[in-house]
Amino acid sequence: TYVVTDNCIRCKYTDCVEVCPVDCFYEGENFLVIHPDECIDCGVCEPECPAEAIKPDTEPGLDKWLKINADFATVWPNITIKRDAMPEAKEMDGEEGKYEKYFS
Ligand code: SF4
Ligand code: F3S
Repeated sequence: TYVVTDNCIRCKYTDCVEVCPVDCFYEGENFLVIHPDECIDCGVCEPECPAEAIKPDTEPGLDKWLKINADFATVWPNITIKRDAMPEAKEMDGEEGKYEKYFS
């Protein structure tokens, strides 16, 4: 599966949702996640993300993010249509450790 990772937080560009053939993105207030059981590993979303936040779970060190994606995908609503990025997207793009900063 592919996973949405830290840099999506408070950017949420949503370009990714438009290209997913199986519509497996789910939307929280500050970032999106991918449902790992629905993702068919096609990879088309990865280059679409301006924040480079989407990665294959075969990359090392993504265990935490795989769990975050799996957990929130079961409770957040599905999103298939692109919407405006968050107002602070440009300033937030590239900030390190957003999850720790804003959610713990
Ligand atoms: Fe959707 Fe393909 Fe991205 Fe998986 S890899 S989330 S199926 S676009
Ligand atoms: Fe997030 Fe990138 Fe999609 S910032 S909403 S994963 S296009």
